[in-house]
Amino acid sequence: MSGPSLQKLDAHRAIHEAAFHEAKELTELLQKLFDERKETLCLGVAEALIESWEQRTLAHAESEEESFYDQKSRENNGELAEMIAMLKRDHHILRTIVHDAKKLLERHKKVTGTIIHHFQALLVVVQIHSRDEEKYLLHDH
Ligand SMILES: [Fe+2]
Ligand SMILES: [Fe+2]
Repeated sequence: MSGPSLQKLDAHRAIHEAAFHEAKELTELLQKLFDERKETLCLGVAEALIESWEQRTLAHAESEEESFYDQKSRENNGELAEMIAMLKRDHHILRTIVHDAKKLLERHKKVTGTIIHHFQALLVVVQIHSRDEEKYLLHDH
């Protein structure tokens, strides 16, 4: 999603929350199936998780970088430049972790503990990222 909704705190936060909720639920399900050693089911959930991260959070990040960040930067006469550079770096880290998880999954053809750690790390990073984005780019202050 792009356009004016990214400018509004409530609408933007709803995008963050929906994506986070879906990824968290799938990660918890993956952990449960992994503990139960259900390999085939694990693989399906891990693939769905990769898709969820790509289609929701990474696509959202892409649309922010297309115009929203520049717009914010202009509105604030470049005062937010450092924060925006940090937020872009977060996006880069998220993309890298998703990419690495995908490669590990392709290589092993099954879910491993390391792959689960990648999915858990994504949840932590995106939570910090969304909090900062909402605080610095979407609140009047
Ligand atoms: Fe973002
Ligand atoms: Fe966002």
